[in-house]
Amino acid sequence: MSIPLFDDAAPRLHSLVEELRRAGAIRSVAWAEAFAKVPRHIFVPEWYGQEADSRGITVWRRHDAADRDSWEAAVYSDQTLVTALDPETAERVDERAWTGIPTSSSTLPSLMAGMLEELGVADGHRVLEVGTGTGYNAALLCARLGDHLVHSIDVSHDLVEAARGRLASAGYRPHLAAGDGQQGFPGDHAPFDRTIATCSVPRIPAAWIEQTRPGGMILADVAMGIEGGLVRLTVDEEGRAVGRFTATTGRFMPARSDAHAYRHPGRAPYAPRAGCRSASLTAGDIRANYPFRLLLAFHLPGAELVYHMDDGTGATSLQLQRRDGTWARAPIADEPTTTVTYGGSADLWRRAEAAWQWWNDHGRPAQERFGYAREADGHHYAWHIPDGHRWPLDI
Ligand SMILES: C[S@@+](CC[C@H](N)C(=O)[O-])C[C@H]1O[C@@H](n2cnc3c(N)ncnc32)[C@H](O)[C@@H]1O
Repeated sequence: MSIPLFDDAAPRLHSLVEELRRAGAIRSVAWAEAFAKVPRHIFVPEWYGQEADSRGITVWRRHDAADRDSWEAAVYSDQTLVTALDPETAERVDERAWTGIPTSSSTLPSLMAGMLEELGVADGHRVLEVGTGTGYNAALLCARLGDHLVHSIDVSHDLVEAARGRLASAGYRPHLAAGDGQQGFPGDHAPFDRTIATCSVPRIPAAWIEQTRPGGMILADVAMGIEGGLVRLTVDEEGRAVGRFTATTGRFMPARSDAHAYRHPGRAPYAPRAGCRSASLTAGDIRANYPFRLLLAFHLPGAELVYHMDDGTGATSLQLQRRDGTWARAPIADEPTTTVTYGGSADLWRRAEAAWQWWNDHGRPAQERFGYAREADGHHYAWHIPDGHRWPLDI
């Protein structure tokens, strides 16, 4: 399908840039100019909107220039747009809809702008982006820095080739590679002044530290099971990356080690129900407080937070769980206290309550009050910046 000429979309692009400036996501003239130069619709010729079918199963409906007005309106709005489904899991349900697992998206423009501002690039900086996806962010980096300084890698060869074509049609030719970006960029392009990732990682990979010059920065989403967040780290001469969680919040799809669907880590079967008790920490407290969820991830490394639906009643709970089969859950309800049901040890929710107590006693710190470091030996940890209290994150 041919892509409509850019001139038609210019007013919409202008409005998007103004919206991002007003929202404070674009804060500098340099990034406002870069955003104003790059037509997003070239990078998102089609996107998949989430719907539920009559059985409540998620289906992804394709939108493209066939319905030009709504496609262009979405592309030039501040929305994340899913752009690829894993071919191994996607099944066609009608002419324009599929089930399946999303494997790529064009990131929320305000998040992208906020991250690019956080990245603190200067003229002449060499940048590595992990997660090429549509190529839109790579194009923004090219518009800001020049093609020869921009390097971008995606685990999917097909996505890289599609991005290469779109980048060329927008006039950009950055260095692109296909492969697992957790291993860095292949060849001898390092060192980079800045490394930015638009897929999340469970810890900052050693290769990113090796390929970022001392004094250079890494900006990435560290996913720690229960929660994760964007960290902005400076690499030092000893091969450490040290910094803090950023005020900009945003989460990304996890890095995959190959181009297809995510592999699920093995877990023991759920332990049988062992009891219930009343508790002061409610599902609502956890859901409403992002910095607390981050702290909970520090307290319970390796644990996960999921929604659980009761087969009989259909009631939904928020469930903490561990790979050893231990679980504890509280109903999603608007109440000051709750009843927690658990399987395995009763300790899981108690530890969450201890974290809640800690967070309240310390004045409910926001995520920027927490540091994050990866040491040269691979250990990683978080700490509370005001008093240095530290949580090891190794599982
Ligand atoms: C949110 S999308 C990236 C959005 C992109 N920056 C853009 O502007 O369109 C995340 C991307 O990370 C890619 N990805 C996942 N695991 C990866 C890995 N190990 N190495 C490199 N890219 C990976 C996915 O294929 C996906 O395209």
